Amino acid sequence: MNLNLGFLASHNGSNVKEIVNAIESKDLEAYARVIISNNSDSLVLRFAEEKGIPSYCLNTKNTSSLDSKILNILQQHEVNLVILAGYMKKLSNEVLQAYPNRVLNIHPALLPKYGGKGMYGIKVHEAVIASDDKETGATIHLVTPNYDEGRILSQYKVPRYNRDTVGSLAERVLKIEHVLYTQVLRDIKNEIILLE
Ligand code: GRF
Repeated sequence: MNLNLGFLASHNGSNVKEIVNAIESKDLEAYARVIISNNSDSLVLRFAEEKGIPSYCLNTKNTSSLDSKILNILQQHEVNLVILAGYMKKLSNEVLQAYPNRVLNIHPALLPKYGGKGMYGIKVHEAVIASDDKETGATIHLVTPNYDEGRILSQYKVPRYNRDTVGSLAERVLKIEHVLYTQVLRDIKNEIILLE
C-alpha cells in the first residue's frame, strides 16, 4: 500500500514533524499529502508552510459543514490514510465511513487505561501520577465513533518513577510517541500491521 498521508493536528504537531522528517530522510516510505488544523495559531501550520506541504486551517468559525470540507480536502489530495496527532475535534461518521480502518490516532497512555471523553493531554498524565501505576506509555489505535476505542495497533511502554511529575512523565511519553508513530506507519507499509 502506498501511504498517502493526511494529517490533522491542533497544536504543536511534533508528531507530524517527526513523521514528515522520517519521510524526508527516507526512514519511512510515504507521502505527506496535506496538513489540516482547526487552530490558526498552531505550529503545525507554520511547519507545513516551511516544508511546502499543502495546509488548511478549518474550524467551525470559518467553515460551515466542517467535516464535509475536511473530507473533500483529504480526497482532493488523494489521501488514503488519515493521521490524527493531537487533533482536538471528534471526527464525524461521514469522514470515518469514507476511510474505514484508515484513520489512526495516538493516545498518550496505555489504552484502554486513561482513555475516553475528557481524557486528553495533561489530564492523562495527571491521572497516571495520581495512580499507583509503575508504567505508562503511548498507544496507536484505529479511530471509531467512540473516543479511544478502536483496535489497538501498537503500544510502547515507559516506566513511571516515584519522583516523576506530570511534566517529566509527559516529556518521556512524548519522546516515545515520536518513535512509535513512525514505526507503526513503517509496519503498515511493510504489511506487518494490516489495517483490516
Ligand atoms: C500527544 O501527546 C498525543 O498523544 C495527543 O496529543 C499530543 C500531541 O502532541 N493526542 P503534538 O501536537 O504532536 O506535539
